[in-house]
Amino acid sequence: MTPSKYFVIDFDSTFTKVEAFDALAEISLKDHPEKESIKTQIAEITNQGMDGTLSLRESIEKRIQLLSPEKKHLAQLVNHLKSVVSESFKRNKDFFSTYADHIYIISNGFHEFIEPVVVEFGVKKENILANEFQYDANGKITGFDKNNPLSSNNGKAEQLKRLNLPGDVYVIGDGYTDYEIKHSGLANKFYAFTENIERENVLSKADHITPSLDEFLYLNKLNTAISYPKNRINVLLLEGVHPVAIELMKAEGFTIESYPAGLDEDELFEKIKNVSVLGIRSKTQVTARVLENANRLMAIGAFCIGTNQIDLKAATKKGVAVFNAPFSNTRSVVELAIAEMIMLIRGIPDKSNKMHQGQWDKSAKGSFEVRGKKLGIIGYGNIGAQLSVLAENLGMKVMYYDKEEKLALGNAVKCKTLRELLNAADVITLHVDGNERNTNLIGSEEFSQMKKGVVFLNLSRGHVVDVKALRENILNGKVAGSAIDVYPYEPISNNEEFISELRGLPNTILTPHIGGSTLEAQENIGTFVPGKITDYINTGSTSNSVNFPNLTLPILENAHRLIHIHNNVPGILARINQILAANDINIVGQYLKTNEHIGYVITDINKEYNKEVIKELRAIEHTIKFRVLY
Ligand code: NAI
Repeated sequence: MTPSKYFVIDFDSTFTKVEAFDALAEISLKDHPEKESIKTQIAEITNQGMDGTLSLRESIEKRIQLLSPEKKHLAQLVNHLKSVVSESFKRNKDFFSTYADHIYIISNGFHEFIEPVVVEFGVKKENILANEFQYDANGKITGFDKNNPLSSNNGKAEQLKRLNLPGDVYVIGDGYTDYEIKHSGLANKFYAFTENIERENVLSKADHITPSLDEFLYLNKLNTAISYPKNRINVLLLEGVHPVAIELMKAEGFTIESYPAGLDEDELFEKIKNVSVLGIRSKTQVTARVLENANRLMAIGAFCIGTNQIDLKAATKKGVAVFNAPFSNTRSVVELAIAEMIMLIRGIPDKSNKMHQGQWDKSAKGSFEVRGKKLGIIGYGNIGAQLSVLAENLGMKVMYYDKEEKLALGNAVKCKTLRELLNAADVITLHVDGNERNTNLIGSEEFSQMKKGVVFLNLSRGHVVDVKALRENILNGKVAGSAIDVYPYEPISNNEEFISELRGLPNTILTPHIGGSTLEAQENIGTFVPGKITDYINTGSTSNSVNFPNLTLPILENAHRLIHIHNNVPGILARINQILAANDINIVGQYLKTNEHIGYVITDINKEYNKEVIKELRAIEHTIKFRVLY
């Protein structure tokens, strides 16, 4: 850095997330009976101070009168302020010690609570310019030093004039008083800091809007804790993903745009150009054509289970990692399956319908307990295996069939063939995946192998069952009860009529694909997917990615991490290492994993990298994407 740059930083709502006076009000008025009305008055005074109807000095005076703070409150305030330092300031703590001689904190707040917070970051005491309280003998605050220019209007500019700094001055703050420094000709640039609050009249005056300190450091080519400011990572969230996901990604510092509905292909084709992370649910189609235009895209989060709506091959070719939430709603599906098998084996759907028509049909005929019955689970994956455990707890004898080798949980018994299961089970439930090859896995032939009076459930995918054959077997009494949640064709929206041969059949529960739809599951998905995406962005970890080789990586300190995605052809790792060796760069850790399409190499190096090396690495033939972390 050229030694002639000075950084002037505001405190309230910039260094910390809050206004210290508001925080002080919470503390000093804690047990005050008129706390709320005083807080309203304080807010009014603050506004009057801002629109100029009250001078700064009067506004400070009035607020102190109303708050009647004491010395002991200040200690609590300091503790609180330390816990609410802005996230990007915490991330970039090094900046303050590295440039300590060039950093000034200027505030219309008070030394007593600013100093203990900022010196911990390496800010020099003599570089803190703020007001000072006056106390009476009992430690009660009676007023403040009125000779300090910071207690009067345009005080920040006046203070800066007195400093007479011998170089360029860059001011960062969220308030109009910060802009006034520039307005008075005492600063070269004013950066409006919007991590905590955005004020329209300030934004319009700013030379730059900086949503985080990272962005400020990046713009000024200063040492940043991260290689790329997170606010430059644009996240587009569609189809009303759970608010918790928006909160989590905001807290990471990403720039978020979210919509309640989806976008069609043409809209997404346009929109995707500037998007770094796309979040969708099951409706948005991410086609190869959309991906062609997605040059900044790093990751797609499917806030659901299935990923059929995404052209995974095209995403992989483009170096875009896809994440979903494979087990966030597992429990919800399992609970519904358990409930339904009990309802069906007791004939409840018919009994309930009759009651609604006024018929009292009290009888034990055809009603059974599930205890001791054989439950046949087809597809022993996340859902099948969890169901196995719960069903056993109900006293059922569990048997399962899976095309893969799966660990039997509890006392569950594995069937060697599907036929073995179909022949023996009293209750059959389907939990296979939605692969095309599973189309009509259960048809006439399979129903003919089942026991008479079987209870049959499908909560997996509609095309897995031949619906016509199911209808016949319900009507001929082979299937005594059935619960279906998924259909070969499902209405696009709640406005479309549900048309199916299954309507009106006896002892048949039909549900509109809601097996996994609970608020708990939505929230689980909302936290799971952002977690995976931020891990990928922050560390390069791809654990649980649907299309990338899965690597779980540690957070790296004091090193740089190079992330290289390439077509899976031989010799790329050797090529990367040749380039690093030729540039005298020492590798501290290296991880490689491939799948059938791509190779994923992570290399941690312990040296400042130079741009030339990056260029060389990028130029390696078959490189799809290259990224540097930290
Ligand atoms: P998973 O992938 O963990 O398990 C599927 C299992 O089925 C795997 O073990 C696989 O080897 C096995 N399988 C696939 N084809 C088979 C075949 N022909 N014969 C025997 N085994 C076969 O999937 P998960 O999470 O357990 O989900 C299961 C199904 O439930 C999926 O189809 C999923 O789409 C569906 N689902 C439905 C929901 C709903 O709202 N109704 C919600 C969540 C999932």
